[in-house]
Amino acid sequence: MKQLDELEEMIELSKRRGFFWPSFSIYGGSAGFNDYAPLGSILKNRIYEEWKRAFTVIGGIEIDSPNITPERVLKASGHVDKFIDMAVACSKCKTRYKLENIISAPGSSRIPETLKEADEMVRKGHFKCEKCGNELTNPYEFHLMFQTQASDETFYLRPETAQGIFVNFKLLLNYNRGKMPMVVYQQGKGFRNEISPRQGIIRQKEFNMAEAEVFLPESGDDNFIPDSNEKLILHDMNGVDHNISISEAVKNHVVGSNNHGFFMQLIYNFVTRIGVDKKRLRFRQHRKDELAHYSKECWDLEVNLNGSWLEIVGIADRGTYDLSRHIRESGENLYYEGEKIARVIEPAAGMDRIIAALLVSNMKRRENTYSYMSFPPEISPYRVAVLPLQKKDGLLEKARELFEALREIEPYTVFDESGAIGRRYARQDEIGTPYCITVDYETLERDIVTIRERNTTKQIKNVRIESILNFPLFLKNPILKEFQN
Ligand code: ATP
Ligand code: GLY
Repeated sequence: MKQLDELEEMIELSKRRGFFWPSFSIYGGSAGFNDYAPLGSILKNRIYEEWKRAFTVIGGIEIDSPNITPERVLKASGHVDKFIDMAVACSKCKTRYKLENIISAPGSSRIPETLKEADEMVRKGHFKCEKCGNELTNPYEFHLMFQTQASDETFYLRPETAQGIFVNFKLLLNYNRGKMPMVVYQQGKGFRNEISPRQGIIRQKEFNMAEAEVFLPESGDDNFIPDSNEKLILHDMNGVDHNISISEAVKNHVVGSNNHGFFMQLIYNFVTRIGVDKKRLRFRQHRKDELAHYSKECWDLEVNLNGSWLEIVGIADRGTYDLSRHIRESGENLYYEGEKIARVIEPAAGMDRIIAALLVSNMKRRENTYSYMSFPPEISPYRVAVLPLQKKDGLLEKARELFEALREIEPYTVFDESGAIGRRYARQDEIGTPYCITVDYETLERDIVTIRERNTTKQIKNVRIESILNFPLFLKNPILKEFQN
């Protein structure tokens, strides 16, 4: 049997256990679309909650704007004219490739700016189709936005949530009582007509974004200051790796500003707190030729999957680009304090890629036995399972009674009475439930249960039911302290 690589394993596991699966499969599916299945839906919501928390604790406010956007907005933002990829299709088997990906590993080679340049690169490179080996020729430009019409007006499905924030700047600033800096975040769908959608949720045509626009005064760099001493890898635009803290990186001019550094740190903290493996992460700075049309400086947080780097969050300095464009095109007053234009730092996260990184980081295997998901308890889809040791002698009823009561405290509780107890532990381990409560004969006699922890498989015996049910938050219960850091 073919050995699956870690991405294939993650995709296969997600389908089998119910994290995500391809959409529309009864009709043969459609590349670039996936459904979040029941476990994945819970996971995604938990991660969004963490994202919101990270921005709310620094005073951020949230909005939720439409997916369908009038052409004028995206013309002003530059997307109608510039949101284009270069592509190349195999003339024999018709497989399509993003040019950037065939030139060499993403981010490591210069991206052609004109079609003429692209054509020359393709001719010199003699690139072969991965499927049929035919030589690739004739690159072309490919627009990434989905267009639609309504009442003779042209609209696009939004390629980023950001524009919904920029066009509301005036109303938001008013809501914020004129206070700057102002942090506004938004989560929702983004749509891109990707040339070659693949790898499950990693490259899709419809995906989940979480973005924040940090509006800063027009000058100064003391609004947000990074203060962590943790050393990280920062791979700069010249290909040099710096193993330094973000504060040091700002002092040494590796990162352009405190404000930018602060949000890189915030994103790193968020991603690692939810359980993405620190050892898989680095920041990579965009080279000048790969910067998006609106961006002055950009650092991507990348995760190492299968030995290659994949962007999961981009943290860009958009300067005054978007507000200036919308002021010019709409004629509206999007200034603050008279005639000043706010500068913007933007952390833009792809939730699906964060989830992919989280799943791969937490797929663990016990020696010679089944695998388990080692999610942090707060992130695990289900937090606790109640398992009667046997179905007879009133154990089933007692366990169900505990389950019903516990569910009031912790809604994401599982009840599982079927199969041998070892098999039931294994089932919970596979979906990452951190704690299993076993109801046995001692429960009937003395109202005590056993709690088993997932990663260590260690058991805490003689736990009084009272001490579970009288505690308002199951995960914060002091009984579990030894397993949590
Ligand atoms: P890539 O170079 O991989 O196509 P990008 O540079 O176009 O990514 P951004 O425009 O910076 O990506 O988008 C912000 C975030 O949205 C990315 O960090 C990524 O996590 C996510 N993202 C972008 N495109 C997709 C997609 N097609 N499917 C899933 N997530 C995506
Ligand atoms: N808003 C950032 C992006 O679309 O890449």
